[in-house]
Amino acid sequence: MKDRKIKIALVFGTRPEAIKMCPLVKKLKQNPKFDVLTIVTAQHRQMLDSVLELFDIVPDYDLNLMKTNQNLWNLSSDILLETKKVFEKENPDLILVHGDTTTAGISALSAFYSRIKIGHVEAGLRTFDKNYPFPEEINRVIVDSVSDLMFCPTDKACENIEKSGIKKGIYKTGNTVIDALMYVIENKNDELEYINLNLNLKTILLTSHRRENFGKPLENICKAIKKLVEQNKDIEVVYPMHLNPNVRNTVKPILEGIERVKLIEPLDYVPFCNLMKKSHIILTDSGGVQEEAPALGVPVLVLRDETERPEALEYGGVKLVGCDEEKITSTVQKLLDNKEEYDKMSKAINPYGDGHACEYIEKIIEEYFS
Ligand code: UD1
Ligand code: UDP
Repeated sequence: MKDRKIKIALVFGTRPEAIKMCPLVKKLKQNPKFDVLTIVTAQHRQMLDSVLELFDIVPDYDLNLMKTNQNLWNLSSDILLETKKVFEKENPDLILVHGDTTTAGISALSAFYSRIKIGHVEAGLRTFDKNYPFPEEINRVIVDSVSDLMFCPTDKACENIEKSGIKKGIYKTGNTVIDALMYVIENKNDELEYINLNLNLKTILLTSHRRENFGKPLENICKAIKKLVEQNKDIEVVYPMHLNPNVRNTVKPILEGIERVKLIEPLDYVPFCNLMKKSHIILTDSGGVQEEAPALGVPVLVLRDETERPEALEYGGVKLVGCDEEKITSTVQKLLDNKEEYDKMSKAINPYGDGHACEYIEKIIEEYFS
């Protein structure tokens, strides 16, 4: 290994993986000991491309796998077969995957079949319920069980892996999402003029895309939003809708045309970060947003009954509200009415890292191969 470069292939496919992996691609590429390859499955197309463009990354391999309203079976088999070809051709020393998507789970399995070493970025997150979130919880378990290096964002994530009996290769690094967020906040600005925000109103930002919330739960969320804008003339709700048709088909019939509700297309990462920063409250079932908002001091209400990110709950910046219409409405109302309650949440600490996770991961990989 001393005489040649260590070949590292980063494999990712969706928007959140790209946001959390692009800063790492850039960091690893600066190390002269590494030969870095980027392989995208393009499980997402437009939402992936917008992040690649922001970080100025042109993938070495673009498998271009997304299909409209794709399903887990087709996507999984495509990823398994297509990554096999690239792994055989390139024979990397290490592949890195991120988090819990189908891209992460199946690419890790594929690398395991090819006997390639695996590193898991954002390792160790668990709800310990195989159905929530579905199918992400099982993807996490699969990736950690075939990984050689596990880069955990927090102590709790390290403990989760240790409890499963794995003893080696576990490192606490923080989450690379904070690296990405700092890069954006420090270097890029966007005044969001095209959203036409009413600056005299309090912005409530909403995102929801989880599979287990499709149908009735998402319907309840939308009804709660409708009630909240009726009750509070001083708020405006902005919902950048995920491109998944299962989301749009539920949301539009309930919220389209409602006064002070803005249904908009997904935002690029820079404007989205600026919108989070300007928001008074965030309602979300997203994983990444639960990590970013506490770093920006914006209270987050999570539209789920559980979370694999309990740290921000403990620190106070995040609350679980589930998908019950009444619970969502009353919790938001309390935050709008009670300044003390609001301040407690907005002043909570960010538990997800110091913005140097990529640097720590780089050092660990270098050490591992030395
Ligand atoms: C996926 C991940 C989920 C992650 C989410 C992040 C799995 C099983 N799910 O869910 O863990 O939280 O991404 O957003 O891995 N679409 C487009 N353009 C895009 C992206 C999506 O049109 O750029 C549409 C397509 O019709 C696609 C559908 O959305 O078929 C669903 O995409 P998919 O990746 O299967 O599921 P997500 O709900 O995005
Ligand atoms: N995000 C974005 N534009 C949007 C909505 C979200 O750039 O319109 C970012 C957000 O800041 C976070 C990531 O996308 O970093 C989260 O993606 P998503 O909620 O789709 O997936 P999850 O994190 O739940 O897997």
